[in-house]
Amino acid sequence: MTGVTIKSKREIELMRDAGKLLRDVHLRLGEEIAPGISTLDLDRLGEELIRKTDSIPSFLNYEGYPASVCVSINDEVVHGIPKANRIIQEGDIVSLDIGLIHNGFQSDAARTHAVGQVSEEASALIKVTEESFFEGMKYATAGNHLHDISNAIGYYCIDRGYGVVRDLVGHGIGREMHEAPQIPNFPQKRKGILLCAGMTLAIEPMINIGTGDVIFHDDGWTCTTADGSLSAHYENTILITDGEPEILSL
Ligand code: MF3
Ligand code: CO
Repeated sequence: MTGVTIKSKREIELMRDAGKLLRDVHLRLGEEIAPGISTLDLDRLGEELIRKTDSIPSFLNYEGYPASVCVSINDEVVHGIPKANRIIQEGDIVSLDIGLIHNGFQSDAARTHAVGQVSEEASALIKVTEESFFEGMKYATAGNHLHDISNAIGYYCIDRGYGVVRDLVGHGIGREMHEAPQIPNFPQKRKGILLCAGMTLAIEPMINIGTGDVIFHDDGWTCTTADGSLSAHYENTILITDGEPEILSL
């Protein structure tokens, strides 16, 4: 594996541009989530929104992934494949994971949406998952170590009784969607690499109401919780600086 890249001023500008475009795609697509829409409709619209910004959907054909958006409902953790016959229902929680490439630079972000009225457990799960990301951000600064972020996210969720997915992790990002380092969301024994200004990272807690165990399905993509409990996902592309991190996709 190649090492962790430090982005130049110019590259950071391009990462900022990609992040802003992705944020806007998320805001627009999030508004379309409603009972009756199919996950394929969301994918089609997502692809259109991405292409309108002169960007390329990074997920499409990535290792054979057949769509531009991952739409993961309820016990689906990540990588739900959009389908015409998969219809969003009132009470669902729906994760949209979207990536785009603009002028050669990538951005990757995920949001989990509540559809209409959802259970109290479901909305608490969504909230804690987002909060865990921001807990991680408190440690995302040059001079700290990578696993300070992992520990902060992990303990935040574990202390509240949630299961942290361990089989999938966040990642460095830049010209490639997946660059070094891998970024676990659960407590680590080792410190991990030293964080330096100019690193760009995709931090993405995947949190379950039950255990953190997951199943990978035969379609080659869909990942669900092993115990059938609900799962939420929240992800942003960030820039490490000497002070507070810049959250590029928010
Ligand atoms: N956010 C996910 C990731 O970091 C999205 C990848 S989906 C794929 O891996 F289809 F592109 F693989
Ligand atoms: Co990612």
